[in-house]
Amino acid sequence: MKVLVTGGAGYIGSHTVVELLQAGHEAVVLDDLSNAQADVINRIETITGRRPAFYENDCKDADALRRVFREHEIDAVIHFAAYKAVGESVREPLKYYRNNLDSAITLLEVMEEVGCRKLVFSSSATVYGPENEAPYREDMPALQTSNPYGWTKVMIERILKDYVTAHPDFCAILLRYFNPIGAHESGLLGDDPNGIPNNLMPYIGRVAAGQLEKLTIFGDDYPTPDGTCQRDYLHVVDLAVGHLRALEYAADHEGAEAINLGTGHGVSVLELVNAFQKVNELTLPYVIGPRRDGDLPAFWADPTKAKEVLGWEATHTLEDMCRSSWLYAKNCARK
Ligand code: WQD
Repeated sequence: MKVLVTGGAGYIGSHTVVELLQAGHEAVVLDDLSNAQADVINRIETITGRRPAFYENDCKDADALRRVFREHEIDAVIHFAAYKAVGESVREPLKYYRNNLDSAITLLEVMEEVGCRKLVFSSSATVYGPENEAPYREDMPALQTSNPYGWTKVMIERILKDYVTAHPDFCAILLRYFNPIGAHESGLLGDDPNGIPNNLMPYIGRVAAGQLEKLTIFGDDYPTPDGTCQRDYLHVVDLAVGHLRALEYAADHEGAEAINLGTGHGVSVLELVNAFQKVNELTLPYVIGPRRDGDLPAFWADPTKAKEVLGWEATHTLEDMCRSSWLYAKNCARK
């Protein structure tokens, strides 16, 4: 298949492009580089020996999207392109609603013009909100979240379901990610956000590399075994492979399907910090600070549907995630 990957120079997008190319598919990347570097395309070529076509464009630009579909016979689209910083979305909601919703709607409009009917969408476990009890299942109500970033995921899932109702021959797979961490084994791709990382693992990597002084653990008084929040951390390469399985499923199915991509296990912040120190044989300076607004104590996936429908399950261990994260963080620090 020839697959358009919007946001394909980003953290999850670039790992997915590598898996696509190595599985024999063709990939076309469209990315505005607002949260990614053009050099990622070179690194994808270094890893795979194949260079994806690359368009430095914005997904809100319908003419740019039309050009891609004119120049390539696109069989399916994986849509990653979106802003994704939770805290920033609270401070700048209009920027998030405009960008994330406009991108998704413009993409769907152009896909309809050209007759492309297969879409894999980058959704998030955040759509389950605070009301549901872990393990999260896809048949639970996924209509609540605590920040504009999360609301854009809820709204785009709604848009896709309504679009499929109006176009029953369209297939949309809504992949609900839990907490992707880790990096490609080459050390060439990883999570390297602009500025100070909001997420736990990239922050840990900067502390371990000496670029940040210490980690602050946001609260150790939660109702969990060690008092710190539990999350379902999954290796980004497992997540990338999940996208291939979703594409293969979409190729001969129609309709809209939400599917969790997670390990099914909750891991606490302290467990992750200790695993990172142990597997990388280093000491990570950290302090316990106050809780972060909006954090839920604990959630993880019920991964049954992904196994049954996609034949997918996570295979990498927490140690793999910690080892590969540190390998990438060290490389980043050297730049
Ligand atoms: C994990 C745990 C923090 C940083 C969010 C989005 C989700 C997805 C992933 C985009 C929490 C704790 C963190 C730190 C800490 N985003 N933490 N110190 O909040 O589960 O999920 O990011 O795709 O949609 O909701 O991930 O990595 O920010 O936090 O103690 O410096 O680590 O309190 O318990 P989160 P996270």
